[in-house]
Amino acid sequence: MRFDRQSQAAVLLGGCAVFFGCTEEPVAQPYDGPALPWDYQAFPLVIEPLDNPTTEEKVSLGLLLFYDPVLSGDKLTACATCHSEQWGFSDGLSFSVGVEGEGPTGPGRDGPHKTTRNAPTLWNVVFRESYFWDGRRPSLEDQALDPLDNEVELNLKPSVAVDRLRAIPTYVEMFDAAFPESSPSVTEENLAKALAAFQRTLITRRAPYDQYVAGDEGALSADGKQGMVLFAEAGCAGCHVPPLFDSERFEQRIPSGDEGRYSVTKDLADLGKMRVPTLRNLRETGPFFHDGSSVELEDAVLREVEIAAARREGRALSADEAALISVFLRKALMSRANEPTRPDEVPSGFPVPLDGFRIPR
Ligand code: HEC
Ligand code: HEC
Repeated sequence: MRFDRQSQAAVLLGGCAVFFGCTEEPVAQPYDGPALPWDYQAFPLVIEPLDNPTTEEKVSLGLLLFYDPVLSGDKLTACATCHSEQWGFSDGLSFSVGVEGEGPTGPGRDGPHKTTRNAPTLWNVVFRESYFWDGRRPSLEDQALDPLDNEVELNLKPSVAVDRLRAIPTYVEMFDAAFPESSPSVTEENLAKALAAFQRTLITRRAPYDQYVAGDEGALSADGKQGMVLFAEAGCAGCHVPPLFDSERFEQRIPSGDEGRYSVTKDLADLGKMRVPTLRNLRETGPFFHDGSSVELEDAVLREVEIAAARREGRALSADEAALISVFLRKALMSRANEPTRPDEVPSGFPVPLDGFRIPR
């Protein structure tokens, strides 16, 4: 859509704005923490587009919109239906169920409209350079209205969404406050900007891995440390690059008939390639892979260990060694420190979508 890439020059913000709930400034200095099986890289700085700097007004507006079914054709489905904080900002399903679905978010939810790919986590999306499994969108602003336009997801024309929002005084006030320079302030572009600003706050800081690299040797268990070394030895870190354990590479791992990156580049060499997903908060984001074909984290890891060994990306591992990688991924990369609070009510008055709230944690 309608955003000028050129105008999105990077703004380095020092990484920690007030509403991220953190105070320390990342400082460039030689690494002197505990041993790592790879070169240390600091947690990246937050980059915002020049034409959409993050403000508290935008973030609180974006949060309400994210949970409000006002953006859906059936007035029951929201972004959070498929990207729930209870499921690592995914939904616990192999394929997501959009409008007219039944049941709370989580396994068991079913309905007539399903996506053909697994819903990715939104944790750390701020750091990505391309969005969707095939990387077809270059920014969060560009991505934000796609789910509305998609008939198996929210199925509501963005222009209709804007009409609805303009009829809700609380939203008009909040858009005015968030976009004082625009008149009218409730527009498709500002809707996308608010959703993007909210998503830029979903950052997993202070996982045990981050505490470890900050000098706390005890943050990782002995098994976790071994798993981290094996993760490097098996060649995993070449694609799932620390500290975010992702990269902008596109690779074919799990054949499924999905064209993947090819649909963007029309280059046959890209057939079936998917963007390397982050492994942060993996404990909560299953089922795994673009086709949701591994339900358990341990199974996903075992499959990747076998693929990596067959392709000689690193050392072949035993099943016991693969299990140690799972321990590392499950515990060391988990952080809900910046999790937003789900609103009880939203300005439309429509019900906030139900969540399956799987296991008490
Ligand atoms: C019906 C389920 C569903 C709904 C509702 C939904 N999404 Fe998604 N979302 C998905 C799926 C599935 C994908 C992956 C699609 C693909 O790669 O082709 C995705 C991908 C994304 C991505 C890309 C993430 C990445 O790492 O590439 C973002 C960002 C996102 N959604 C944000 C939103 C926002 C914001 C809303 C609400 C306006 C929303 N989604 C509504 C299912 C959903
Ligand atoms: C050459 C690049 C590459 C290497 C090396 C690699 N991966 Fe992956 N990994 C990917 C891609 C691409 C995907 C997504 C594949 C898909 O869904 O089709 C993926 C997906 C995963 C997933 C599922 C994540 C999710 O959210 O769905 C896990 C878990 C995983 N990899 C673990 C590992 C482990 C453990 C290793 C080392 C044994 C490893 N990977 C090595 C590229 C790689």
